[in-house]
Amino acid sequence: MTSRKLLAVVLLSSFVCAAWGTFSPRRILFAQCDYPEEHSVKPKAVFMTCANNRGVCEVRAGGSHTLRAIFVPKINSSDVDSYVRWNSWVEVQLPGQNRDACGEALTCPVVANDITRFTYNLDIQNFWPRDEYPVIWSLTDRATDQEIVCFKFRINIV
Ligand SMILES: *[C@@H]1O[C@H](CO)[C@@H](O)[C@H](O)[C@H]1NC(C)=O
Repeated sequence: MTSRKLLAVVLLSSFVCAAWGTFSPRRILFAQCDYPEEHSVKPKAVFMTCANNRGVCEVRAGGSHTLRAIFVPKINSSDVDSYVRWNSWVEVQLPGQNRDACGEALTCPVVANDITRFTYNLDIQNFWPRDEYPVIWSLTDRATDQEIVCFKFRINIV
């Protein structure tokens, strides 16, 4: 390898690390939400930067973990609400989340039938009890209150 090529590889990998934090992204298991609305879809794939390589995604209390969902919406939207909660006997909103999806996380408008990426840095607050949590995540069009995409998965706070 020439030194220029090597430099390119080093720069590229540091860029990837900077973009994704300490851990590499990997596919995580997810499922459709329990009561999907008519125009809502489930993602094609969900990636997350987990502290472990397989099984339920481990996230560090006090850390930040990046989630990326790839989906093909059925509706257009120019103002998107992002809502992540954990599913206890009631749904409990995750603290410190940014409800405005449009911007860095999502390119708006969202266009029906286009492959769409939603990328979110989820901060895991230090005060969270270490445990496994069922998480539900949805994106909703604010103008019509229609759900665009919804999925659920598990995280293990360690
Ligand atoms: C979404 O918007 C595009 C134009 O940007 C339009 O052609 C299309 O019909 C719209 N689709 C829906 C489902 O509203």
